Order: sequence, then structure tokens, then C-alpha cells
Amino acid sequence: MGLLPREGWPRTKVLDKLSAILGRLPRYSESILGSTTTLPSMLAHDVFRMFQYYDADDEWLYDEISKLEEEVISMIAEIVGCSEGECIGMITSGESESNLAALFLAREHGYRRVYFTRTVHDSIVKASYILGLEVVIAPYNPWSYKLDPSMLLELVSRRGSGLIVATIGTTGFGTIDPIESIAEVARRTNSVVHIDAAYGGFIAPFIYKHIKLGFENEEVVSITVDPHKLGGAPIPAGAIITRDKKWFKPLVFPSSYLPAGVQKGLLGTRTAGSIAATWAAVVSNGYLGYEQQAYHLMNTSRYLISRLEEEGIQPIVEPDLPIICLPCRDVATSIRSLARNNVYVYKCGLVDGLKITIMPHVSRNLIDKFIELYTKICV
Ligand SMILES: Cc1ncc(COP(=O)(O)O)c(C=O)c1O
Repeated sequence: MGLLPREGWPRTKVLDKLSAILGRLPRYSESILGSTTTLPSMLAHDVFRMFQYYDADDEWLYDEISKLEEEVISMIAEIVGCSEGECIGMITSGESESNLAALFLAREHGYRRVYFTRTVHDSIVKASYILGLEVVIAPYNPWSYKLDPSMLLELVSRRGSGLIVATIGTTGFGTIDPIESIAEVARRTNSVVHIDAAYGGFIAPFIYKHIKLGFENEEVVSITVDPHKLGGAPIPAGAIITRDKKWFKPLVFPSSYLPAGVQKGLLGTRTAGSIAATWAAVVSNGYLGYEQQAYHLMNTSRYLISRLEEEGIQPIVEPDLPIICLPCRDVATSIRSLARNNVYVYKCGLVDGLKITIMPHVSRNLIDKFIELYTKICV
């Protein structure tokens, strides 16, 4: 045995080593400007610790947890346009699992062809590959970077019905695909729609109240939302919500050993901490809390954009939500230079640019610091 200590380390030695690592990690509020993760509310953090050792997979032993899960899913479902009590779903480990589950459900309901445009999150591409789906890439509008409904209609009419994936808050550009028009394409081609609202689910419905962004469109069969992004819950917490029980059913698997006789979702043992913490975050924020957060994030985003306009710089794509893709002359080198100054940004992906994500921890001070560095490094 070379790596595994022969004698267990004392507690202080373990904690000293780990504290040193923790101390070297970049702090959210001082430096993180690219990631869609943030610090949870203290309440959700505490609740997670209270419930983390209980296995939500065992619905017989912990039926109280299952009820809590139903409750919180119904509340999130309401935000994304579900009529009271109709939708069901579950808390997952995050949006990648949720998207995999959503595409799995579509496949089990007979939709083996999936349409999406290149702005989708990598997890949609990954899920399609895992599930062996036929992928058809739909064009995006070259100015708005949104899925183009008229070209989509032409494509689906030619290739045949399928699952159409739309995004509320694209990872690289913060755009919202034209959901109502996409739903109309689905209606005319016997297709169904899945919406990835990982980032946008807890913000877009509060800002764009005049648009039907979710289940109000009958063709929408599933929506995924990430409580560990803007919901206030700690990692890991995703959510998948389906239009009704029938659509969700393939995600309920038989279990040979759990007393409930069934097991929900693509994974197995899962922490009740995620469910209880998401519940705590959702009820403590309430509608008004999320609305306030949504406007705060939009205002912070406008602040960044207007400061850049003063320097004569525009985002590469006009965002609908606070994810901003900025031009930069050498993206890879600039990301490293910014990191040396303790500012961490991401890449936009589809185009060469720097991705900034406005999360609750992002302050105007951090934005000012970024702009000072950005104008020296990137422009
Ligand atoms: C639109 C979108 N979908 C899916 C994901 C993946 O989420 P997770 O990292 O929780 O699996 C992300 C992550 O940023 C995202 O922005």
C-alpha cells in the first residue's frame, strides 16, 4: 500500500489538509463571473445538512420526503406555467441528469428523433448520444442566435415528427428561443417540445410575463429547471417536470428489493438533502423573492452592458437573460490572464468570446474590476 495511509490520519491532520485546499479555491463574490453556480441561501445550506443522510430513493421508509418532493415540484411547476396539480416530476442531481431523463421519456413515448439547434447545452447532445437518438440539427437565426421557427417547420415537415428541444437561457448567450412559435411548429407536425430552462426557469417567467414560456403551450411535455442555479438550493439539485403522470411514467422503474416496489429516476440512492433544501429555498423565497432576484440580476446585467457601451463595446449576441457573450481577441489566453488576476470567466462556445454569467453573488465591484482588466486584455 503506497497511497492509502496504513494508519488513519487524526481528525486535525485531515481538516488541516482540506482547509488549506479550501483556502486556495476562488471565492464566489470576489472572482467567479462565468459559472452558473453560486452560494445557496444559508437556510437551504442548513436544511441540506439536516437531511443529507436520508435516501429519497426509498419511498416507503421516507414517504414524508416523497411528499415534500411532490410539494416542491408542484411549486416550481407553477412558475413554469403548469395548472395547479397537473404536472409531476422529481428532484435530480442537476440539469444534465434532468435533460437525460427528459430525452429518455420522449424516446419511451416513441419520439426517437430529436431536433435542436447548436446553442443547446452540451448535456442535450450527450443525452442524445447516450440514448441513441437520431439527431437533426435545426438552424438558428444568424442575428439573434435563436432557433428559427420557419426553418424548423420546413425541416420537421421534411424529416418527420420528433422531440424539439428549446432553451430558456442558452448557456453561451442568455437567449430565449421563441417558445410559442416552436410549440406551433410542434402542433403542425405532430411533434412535442422539451424546454431546458436550467438557468432561465427561475428568472424568465418573472421578467417576460407576457410570453407563454412553459406548459401553457400544449405541445410542451417536459421542462427542466435547476434549483442549484438560481433557485437558492445547494449543489446537487436539478428538477424535471412533466406535463402529467402519464408522461412521467417510464421514469418509474420496478425495484426487486425496495419495499415500495418501485424506484424513481435514472439514478439510485439520492440524498433527501437536495429535496428538503430545494423546498426550503423555494418556500422561503416565494414568488416575490424570486421576482426581486430576477430584477436585481437583470439590472446588474444592464449595468455591465452600459459600462461596456461607454467603452464602445457591444455583446456579440443581444441577451434576453443575464448571460453575456463578449468579443475578445484571444479567448484562451485572455481567460488565463483574467484568472491570474483572480477573475474567472467562461467561453461562449459556439462563437469565440468570453461568457459572463450574472449570478446572485456578482457585485458591481466585481464587474468594475472585470471591465478594467477586460479593456486591457481583450480589446
Ligand atoms: C441551459 C443549460 N442546460 C443544462 C446545463 C447543465 O446543468 P448541470 O451542470 O446542472 O448538469 C447548464 C449548465 O450550465 C445549462 O446552462
